Order: sequence, then C-alpha cells, then structure tokens
Amino acid sequence: MAPSTLTFAALSLLTTLPSAHAWGSLGHTTVAYIAQNLVSSRTARFAKSILQDKSDAYLATVATWPDSYRYEPGGEFSQVFHYIDAYDDPPYSCNVVFARDCPEEGCIVSALANYSSRVVMDNLDNQEKMNALKFIIHFLGDIHQPLHVEHYAIGGNQVNVTFNGAKTNLHAAWDTAIPQQAEGNFTMENSERWATELTREIKFGKYKKEAKSWDKGINVNKPIDSAMTWARDANRYVCETVMPEGGDVLFNKELNGTYYENAIPVVKKQIAKAGFRLAAWLDAVVENAQRGGHGKGHGKKEKHDKREDFELEPWMQEARQLRRDFGGDCGCTAEEHGH
Ligand SMILES: *[C@@H]1O[C@H](CO)[C@@H](O)[C@H](O)[C@H]1NC(C)=O
Ligand SMILES: *[C@@H]1O[C@H](CO)[C@@H](O)[C@H](O)[C@H]1NC(C)=O
Ligand SMILES: *[C@@H]1O[C@H](CO)[C@@H](O)[C@H](O)[C@H]1NC(C)=O
Ligand SMILES: *[C@@H]1O[C@H](CO)[C@@H](O)[C@H](O)[C@H]1NC(C)=O
Ligand SMILES: [Zn+2]
Repeated sequence: MAPSTLTFAALSLLTTLPSAHAWGSLGHTTVAYIAQNLVSSRTARFAKSILQDKSDAYLATVATWPDSYRYEPGGEFSQVFHYIDAYDDPPYSCNVVFARDCPEEGCIVSALANYSSRVVMDNLDNQEKMNALKFIIHFLGDIHQPLHVEHYAIGGNQVNVTFNGAKTNLHAAWDTAIPQQAEGNFTMENSERWATELTREIKFGKYKKEAKSWDKGINVNKPIDSAMTWARDANRYVCETVMPEGGDVLFNKELNGTYYENAIPVVKKQIAKAGFRLAAWLDAVVENAQRGGHGKGHGKKEKHDKREDFELEPWMQEARQLRRDFGGDCGCTAEEHGH
C-alpha cells in the first residue's frame, strides 16, 4: 500500500503499536526460515498451497502476522494466545502447569493445539486454515522465549531496564534488543542469513548432538502435552538465565555486558530449537493428516488435568487479574522495525 493511501488514523496506530510481546520480527522470521530449511517436501507443498505462496520465503513472510492481527478489530481474542503465565517462583522454582496456568480464555499451549487441529480440517475454508498455519508458525516461536512462559512482572514487561542506555524492559530486551545486538536489525535477508547459520549448527555443528533429543515429547495426537514440553523447556531458563538472582535485582539495570553475554547463547539455542521443532511439528501434523487422521482434526481426545480441578492461590488470582488489566498494551517502546 502506498503511504499516501494510509489514513491518518492508520498511521498513528502504526506508530503507537506496542510490539514487544513476542520475539521481534528478526527472531520470528529466523525461526520460520530454519523450519523452511528442515521440513519435508510434502510439508512444503502443503504449506505453500494453504498460504498460496510459492516463493522461497513462504513461511518467513507470514511469521509476524499474529503480532499485528492481535491489534486489529476482530483479532483481539488472539492476544492471550501469545503466552502462558506460569505461576512459579523464580529463581527458586521454575515450572509450568497447564491446569493452573492456562485460563479459560486460552493461552499459547491451548492455541497451538487448536490451530494444529484446524490447519488440517476438511470442513474449514482456506482462509481459516491459512490463519491457523500462520498462528502455528508464530506461536512455536513465542513458546521458546522464556518470558512468554513466565508470570513474573507480566512476563518481564514491567521490569524497566536499559540496553546500551536506551530505555526498554526485560521482556522487550529478550524479544528484540539482545538478538539484534548479536545479529543486526531485522531485514528478511538478515533473518535468512541467521537461519542458514543456525541450520548449519543443527545439522553439522554445535547443536548436532543435542538436536537429536529436541523432538522428544512431540506426539501429534497429544498437542497439549507436546506444547507443554516446549513451554517447560523454555521456562527452565527463567530460573537459570533470565533471573538467576531473582527479578528484583534487574530493575533499572543496564543489560549490555555480562547479562547480555549470558543471555545470547540461550537466545540462539532457543531460536534454533523453535525452528527445528516447527519443522518437526508441521511434518508430523501433515503426515498424520495425509495418513487419514484429518477431517476432524486431531488431539480431541487428549486427556489432561482440568482447570476446574485446580484451585488458584490468592496471589495467583491477583496475578491473573493484573495480566487481564494489563491487556494488550505493554506501554513499552515500539519496536525499531519498519514493516
Ligand atoms: C480456535 O480457533 C478459532 C479460530 O481462530 C477460535 O475462534 C476459537 O476460539 C479457538 N478455540 C480455542 C479453544 O482456542
Ligand atoms: C517503567 O517505565 C514505564 C515507561 O517508561 C513507566 O511508565 C513506568 O512507571 C516505569 N515503571 C517503574 C516501576 O519504574
Ligand atoms: C554494548 O556492547 C557492545 C558490544 O560489546 C559495545 O560495542 C557497546 O559499546 C556496548 N554499549 C554499551 C553502552 O556498553
Ligand atoms: C539498528 O536500528 C537502530 C534503531 O533504529 C539504529 O540505531 C542502529 O544504527 C541500527 N543498526 C544497524 C547495524 O543498522
Ligand atoms: Zn507473539
């Protein structure tokens, strides 16, 4: 769209959009490019057909769509799907519990299950399947960002910090400032370059050995369990790396330096895992559907603990209310990318 066709209202919306709730565009696009490098040719055909895009960036170009959709009229319901607030106690105890942490309105874990089922449903029109696939691509990325699986200070959004002297918050630093310091600002080319590098590390380099266990816990008939495996894996880093001395000591801290040095290997590994698991998950979903598991979706009979059976402690109820009041707006600085 030419800039002149943007209305004033649309322009001012664009410039005030809060954006730091997700890996930034660099992270999400890199995850998608890694997955493109690793998916089966059958999955690639399936995805290109649903996305109606035969280009060599078919997953990459849609990876950030859910971060704008959530602010569009009619898209607000998807806001809560970008995270799960684990009511744990870092740095002493890190854990995620589905029945405790995923509220009635949904969370990233239930959303991944929902859209993994919808993407292969016969009776959905292509637009709905397209949205489902875009959500999967994006949420597989988000679930690997440790602060998307943590309740503390609204996933770190309320922990003000600086990075190279610029005001930001802990959540946004993990989404954007830390990855960009290492890999440069977001462009498609830069994301593709980073993805090529991480794919090489997965196949032949420093991740080769451990990557053999990265698809452990993936079961296409148990999407909730599968997503919980990824959520727990990321949440572990909240205690180990994000706030090893607790969150209080991070307020107003400058994160460039030692904090950054400790964080960046985790960021790289989590982006690599997300791309690897996105490919493995899409392969499993598509293969299952084409073997006849499609039509009704899958995972419908998966058993898991029910939220009705879990009584939230008062502080957890308070934390949930805080998150609901916080809503979609983190009040943080807009991300420095230009899409
Ligand atoms: C599943 O996705 C559809 C389409 O976005 C949405 O309307 C519905 O609320 C979702 N259901 C759950 C349980 O997340
Ligand atoms: C954090 O920064 C925001 C935006 O600059 C500000 O509104 C808020 O009061 C700050 N919070 C704290 C605890 O300093
Ligand atoms: C942040 O780290 C980079 C790389 O080490 C360095 O070039 C830059 O000067 C640092 N900024 C500050 C404010 O320390
Ligand atoms: C990245 O973007 C920031 C903010 O727009 C800018 O200050 C910086 O110079 C950019 N870095 C590079 C390497 O282009
Ligand atoms: Zn997101």
